[in-house]
Amino acid sequence: MNVIFMGPPGAGKGTQAERIVSTFHIPHISTGDAFRLAMSQETPLGIEAKGYVDKGLLVPDEITNGIVRERLQQPDCNEGSLLDGFPRTIAQADALDVIMESLGKKIDHVINLGVDRNLLLARLTGRRICKSCGATYHVVFNPPKQDGVCDKCEGELYQRSDDTEEKVGTRLDEYVNKTAPLLEYYRGKGLLREVNGDQDIDLVTSEISSLLRG
Ligand code: AP5
Ligand code: MG
Repeated sequence: MNVIFMGPPGAGKGTQAERIVSTFHIPHISTGDAFRLAMSQETPLGIEAKGYVDKGLLVPDEITNGIVRERLQQPDCNEGSLLDGFPRTIAQADALDVIMESLGKKIDHVINLGVDRNLLLARLTGRRICKSCGATYHVVFNPPKQDGVCDKCEGELYQRSDDTEEKVGTRLDEYVNKTAPLLEYYRGKGLLREVNGDQDIDLVTSEISSLLRG
């Protein structure tokens, strides 16, 4: 089963992906996580990506497509994958079709997490992430049991460098201009499933799970 999670920055893609992959046993492929890992290791990819990610801009398609092409060829993707934050442009969606076809795979579901723009800023500025295991929290909406400490692995929680008010504004503009048109693209293919992302986190997970089992 190959699934794509779409939705604006802060919609809950990562939060839901963590839960869905543990139930459906498919790998979670987040291009944002891949860029952040490369940035923290200061690899050539990370150094190049940093110039875009830190400004809240999309990384150019050729770079991003290459990462996904390589990742989907790994054996752990044989039974499926969950793409979080890819594709984000029409050109990326076209490239994904080519990649999938060359690997004899197909996209089964595109889940769009819809959340009102005015809720996203509070979600993103209050987000905290575990340095060790990547689990996502929110200081108000999904707080860890102990301030600054991960419930799952006791790792230290940090704030993403692009979760400032100014960068969130740029990220939302990029979403509206470049990514939102993809909704029509996938609706036209009959793959798009809409989920209200402005509900309790557990409820969102159970709606997604039933769509995927559907
Ligand atoms: P990426 O890491 O993908 O960021 P994003 O799309 O901006 O999305 P986020 O990760 O910010 O939000 P999310 O939907 O995962 O929300 P989360 O679950 O964390 O990309 C970062 C950057 O990398 C991009 O800006 C770009 O530069 C580059 N990049 C990545 N992919 C690319 C691509 N394909 N092409 C080009 N460039 C690319 O939740 C957010 C917060 O809300 C958390 O605190 C969470 O606890 C809370 N929350 C979640 N669900 C709920 C709920 N139901 N109720 C209340 N609070 C909730
Ligand atoms: Mg995310």
